[in-house]
Amino acid sequence: MKITVVGAGNVGATCANVIAHKELANEVVLLDIKEGTAEGKSLDMWQTAPINMYDSKIIGSTNDYSKTAGSEVVVITSGLPRKPGMSRDDLIATNAGIVKSVTENVIKYSPNAIIIVVSNPLDVMTYCAYLTAKAPKNKVMGMAGILDTARYRAFLATELNVSPKDIQAILMGGHGDTMVPLPRYTTVGGIPVTELVAKDKLDAIVERTKKGGGELVNLMGTSAWYAPGAAAAQMVEAIVRDQKRVYPVCAWLEGEYGLKDIFLGVPVILGKGGIEKIIELQLTADEKKLLADSAVAVKEVMDVLDKMEKVA
Ligand code: LAC
Repeated sequence: MKITVVGAGNVGATCANVIAHKELANEVVLLDIKEGTAEGKSLDMWQTAPINMYDSKIIGSTNDYSKTAGSEVVVITSGLPRKPGMSRDDLIATNAGIVKSVTENVIKYSPNAIIIVVSNPLDVMTYCAYLTAKAPKNKVMGMAGILDTARYRAFLATELNVSPKDIQAILMGGHGDTMVPLPRYTTVGGIPVTELVAKDKLDAIVERTKKGGGELVNLMGTSAWYAPGAAAAQMVEAIVRDQKRVYPVCAWLEGEYGLKDIFLGVPVILGKGGIEKIIELQLTADEKKLLADSAVAVKEVMDVLDKMEKVA
């Protein structure tokens, strides 16, 4: 089994490292456009194999997609990251062209691959890959919800001084400031979080989660990678091990939640078929409104992409 990660920047390299470390495939291909980067990082990672005791081979490639042929899952991380002061949407002009050409190459050599997009603006880049790949909707998806939920869970773990393992949560919507964390569906060892955290504190954590990516961009001058890379690898794991995990994933909606023809974060069952089912929750009126607002924000950027496609 082969898994490819396109883009050997911080997110892609972290993702490939986690995939290899967990032995999710016997061959992990890391590809980048920059001469030598993917080869160098792959070799460095491979030299951790005797230390970390794994035998997934890691192969680096400078833009030679023939090396990715026959991949079962391909993670696309290519594109520019955010700089301070930028929104994810500011990246669309540059990253759409990159994601489109990457997807064309991916599909050429791995026509049956399941594609996980990580590039920003996430929901719209997933749409871009979906349009380009012309693959079934269950096989093209975006990684955002696991990352955003992880941030929310980590903040709660710190606030409550409990293990992050015991915090279960779901978050929906686009990967931007309109994302919708759902305290009503958040539990701590089975206990509703609303019984353990005061409303003002919980509200503050929800707000911090929405801007969680931006907080890191401001601290580091570029966007995050450890959690995004690990989150994408967790999706790969659910697929290749056919785990049927329940995760928030950016998925193509065709009427679910009253939304149509849009990529948006929703809870799904993830297994060897990719998105095997979209789970529809009974949202309250307030939650529905937040999700609808998030959909409007994503749709605006999708429209920008549609117009770019027409010009191209
Ligand atoms: C973040 C970027 C990867 O949220 O979108 O950190």
